[in-house]
Amino acid sequence: MKKETKCVHTGSYRDVVVNKLAALEETEDGVLFSSGMAAMSTSVMSFARSGDHVVMRNALYGGTHAFATYLLDRLGIHYNFTATGSDAVCSIVNDRTKVIVKESPTNNPLMDIIDIRKVARFAKTRGITSIIDNTFATPVNQNPIKLGIDIVVHSGTKYLGGHSDICCGIAVTSSKNTRHIRTTARHLGGSLGGVETTICSPVTTSHAKISAEERKRVGITDSLLRLSAGIEHVEDLVADLDQALNS
Ligand SMILES: Cc1ncc(COP(=O)(O)O)c(C=O)c1O
Repeated sequence: MKKETKCVHTGSYRDVVVNKLAALEETEDGVLFSSGMAAMSTSVMSFARSGDHVVMRNALYGGTHAFATYLLDRLGIHYNFTATGSDAVCSIVNDRTKVIVKESPTNNPLMDIIDIRKVARFAKTRGITSIIDNTFATPVNQNPIKLGIDIVVHSGTKYLGGHSDICCGIAVTSSKNTRHIRTTARHLGGSLGGVETTICSPVTTSHAKISAEERKRVGITDSLLRLSAGIEHVEDLVADLDQALNS
C-alpha cells in the first residue's frame, strides 16, 4: 500500500482521472464510474424522476437503448425515441421533459451526426438537462460542453482507455450537476474497491451517511478500520503494514 493510496470512497486516484477528463472536456468536475453504462444511467436518473419524460435519439448505443426500455418504465419515467435529426429531437419534447439523451456521432453501425449546438440551445431555453455520449468523438475531436451541452458521458472502455484493458465510465459537467450525479451514484451503491489492498475507516467512507447512533447500534465504531486484502505478495503487504504502523 503506497502512502497515497486511499480507499475508493475518498479516492485520490479517481480525482486525477476526473480532473483530467474535466479539463479535456473544458468543464468543472465529474464522477468516475465502473462502466460507461453506469455513467449514462446514473446521469439520466439524476435528472429525471417518476412522472418525468426523457427524449432519446433512435440511434443510441444498444445498452443505452435497453436501459430506457427496461428500466425507465419501471421507474415511472416516460420516454420517447426520436428520429436522428435535431428538429425531430426538439419537436418531441413536452412539458414534462427533463432530459435529452443523444450521441453524435452515433454508435456503430450508423455513425450519423446531429446539430449539437441547436439541441443544446433548445434544451437550455426549456430548462431541460442535455446529456451526450461523447465516446466515439472523444474530447480530441469534439467538446460538447463548449457547444452548450450540460453533461458529457464517456465509456472509458473504448478510445479513452486505448488498449481495451480497462472498463470504466465517466460523466463530466458543472460542479453543481456533479453533486447531483455523485449523490445518485452513492445511493445506487458504489464499489468497495478492486484487486488491490485498501484500508479505510467505515465511519468516514462506507458508513459516513449513517447517523452516529445507527452506526453504534450496528457495531461500526469510530476507531474501526476495514482492511481489504488484495492480490499483492504477502511479504509486501506485511512490510507495508509494518512500516505504516511504525511510522
Ligand atoms: C458509444 C458507447 N457508449 C457507451 C457504451 C457502454 O460502455 P461500457 O461498456 O463501458 O458500459 C459503449 C459500449 O460499447 C459505447 O459504444
